[in-house]
Amino acid sequence: MSGIYFHIPFCKQLCHYCAFHKSISLQAKARMLSCLKKELNDRKNYLTGNKIDSIYFGGGTPSVYSPEEIQSLILEVGRHFIINDNSEITLEANPDDLTHDYLKALKDTSVNRLSVGIQSFHDEDLILMNRRHSGQQAFDAIKRAQTYGFDNISVDQIYGVPGLSLKKWEENLKKVFELNIQHISSYHLMYDPNTVFTHKLKKGIIKEVDEEVSLAQYKHLISEAKKHGFLHYEISNFSQSGFESRHNSSYWQQKMYLGLGPSAHSYNLNRREWNISDNLKYMKAIEEGGAYSECEELSFNDKFNDYVLTSLRTMWGLDLELVKNEFGEFYHQYCLEKANKFIQSEDVRIEKKHIILTDKGVFISNDVMSDFFYIEE
Ligand SMILES: C[S@@+](CC[C@H](N)C(=O)[O-])C[C@H]1O[C@@H](n2cnc3c(N)ncnc32)[C@H](O)[C@@H]1O
Ligand code: SF4
Repeated sequence: MSGIYFHIPFCKQLCHYCAFHKSISLQAKARMLSCLKKELNDRKNYLTGNKIDSIYFGGGTPSVYSPEEIQSLILEVGRHFIINDNSEITLEANPDDLTHDYLKALKDTSVNRLSVGIQSFHDEDLILMNRRHSGQQAFDAIKRAQTYGFDNISVDQIYGVPGLSLKKWEENLKKVFELNIQHISSYHLMYDPNTVFTHKLKKGIIKEVDEEVSLAQYKHLISEAKKHGFLHYEISNFSQSGFESRHNSSYWQQKMYLGLGPSAHSYNLNRREWNISDNLKYMKAIEEGGAYSECEELSFNDKFNDYVLTSLRTMWGLDLELVKNEFGEFYHQYCLEKANKFIQSEDVRIEKKHIILTDKGVFISNDVMSDFFYIEE
């Protein structure tokens, strides 16, 4: 099974924390749509005949395209690949785009999962982030989507944001669980280079929140999610049983994926490729047959480290049998030695031949994962 990712590199307004590739000029929307279709055709052999079981429209803001335009891309995938009947087809959408008309038309497409950026329900946070909607508008958008029959909805929320106290975060979570949604992605704010937040941080206009506060927010998130019956299946992702994001899981489970559009990444188990993060250069290269991507061949050891990084992030953990079969006895023993060290500190456990982060270990996941990396001499 494989996945297809479309990067839609447009946003109507720039959020002050976000470094994802996008342009706020929407002029090239139609031209970009044709280029995405052309890239799909040019790279139809990349997945070596594998069936598709997930399509993900991410961005940027995919909901800048009409439902008809989104469906035209799905149909184009169907012209070149076999799409499984029960595929997961996700559209990332900004709450203010989810109007009655939009949702009604979207229900007639093959999109069956929505991922909506809520970030916070507090208007002062949304203003600080330069979002286009209020907390109430975001709440109403989810409710509206449910009335149109969308029953697989994920929301994004950010914690560790300046001005977001533990009390405000608790209120955000309370509202999220009132929505009766199936999936939550919750990220700690990252100060990415070239964002307004990072600029303000450097100038002393905003201040990073204390580590104890953001740790308390993360712990509260984990305990509330458990209380509401959600599985904590990846460091930042929670779902009702059976609603784990199949697309993101394919990244974590080392499946092949083809990424289309500027800045999109692709992986076919041997090679990583990434498209240039520049809309005009991307479109020109696609139209004229020029180069628009770079690639890296993965060494055997790179593949092992990739497996460590992706598997330890999840509740399924690192499969010791898989390591033995795919990477050999040396790496198998290496994993057992590393695991012993972290079993003593109660950061990992071994269950049914899988090394899994404990709740304690999840808080220091970056340290654990980097310690598991095998560095070749
Ligand atoms: C690719 S963005 C697109 C979602 C959609 N455009 C929206 O804003 O609603 C996916 C999510 O990444 C998260 N995100 C983006 N930049 C972040 C940052 N610097 N720190 C933490 N989370 C971030 C946000 O929660 C955002 O909703
Ligand atoms: S968070 Fe979403 S809407 Fe905001 S700039 Fe990033 S991609 Fe665009």
